[in-house]
Amino acid sequence: MKASDFSKEILLGSSLDSKLFNCNDLVFDEFEGRDIPLTPSRSNEIQFSEKQGKFPKRNTLNNDSNKALALHFFANHELLAIEMMAAALYCYPTITEEDKKFKKGIVSALRDEQKHFKLYVGRINELGSDFGDFPVNDFFWKQMPDLKTPSEFFSMMSLTFEMANLDFCIHYKEIFESLGDEKTSSILNTVLEDEISHVSIGRHWLEQWKPTGSLWDYYKSLLPEKITPARAKGMIFSREARARAGFSEDFIDSLDNYRDDFLVTSRKKWKK
Ligand SMILES: [Fe+2]
Ligand SMILES: [Fe+2]
Repeated sequence: MKASDFSKEILLGSSLDSKLFNCNDLVFDEFEGRDIPLTPSRSNEIQFSEKQGKFPKRNTLNNDSNKALALHFFANHELLAIEMMAAALYCYPTITEEDKKFKKGIVSALRDEQKHFKLYVGRINELGSDFGDFPVNDFFWKQMPDLKTPSEFFSMMSLTFEMANLDFCIHYKEIFESLGDEKTSSILNTVLEDEISHVSIGRHWLEQWKPTGSLWDYYKSLLPEKITPARAKGMIFSREARARAGFSEDFIDSLDNYRDDFLVTSRKKWKK
């Protein structure tokens, strides 16, 4: 099957089955770039909502329905990652051998995101809820039309959203462990290990493409206007996970020390 047809099915097919579509034998057909759609196609059951759902507080996570709600947020992030990766495959040009190479990396990450989504939804079902029971937002996708090039895509997706997810996975893995919920903590551990490799794919390509100067400066220069590196951090900061993804001490220090003025990214305050 052509990689463009595979990614089109995921991006523009509206059912959950389309989002989880798989095909093992992909051929990277050549094409020029296509416009990024304003929104991925989604059927009514998984449609974006204007309602701002609230993430459950830490001290309420011993309750099954709040656990399911927390996992529902995580599952939606996986679904958005699936659609954004499909958009990267479908919309950025495939001309050179290098284009095919970085797209192969995206396909392997996309398959992991489908696996993560299914793991979360399986656990949500065990907890007595289903995907679609709670409203879902489109925050991650909203950045997609601004990501005009593969380098901008990797800086936003891998080095920002997926990198912050390393911290979130570790943080919630420990919370669920402390609640004695082995099943959920082991899912978060699986996601963590895969996400380290996804962040590393983005780092690899940005290192290939960066002009002279540091990876940190190149990364910052690629982010959309309203997004700062503070988005690449969670409420804890794992140097170890970032080192495992291949980042230098310098890069990790720069990110650790980075501050902005946005309240939304002052995540350490969320814990209180
Ligand atoms: Fe994921
Ligand atoms: Fe990922």
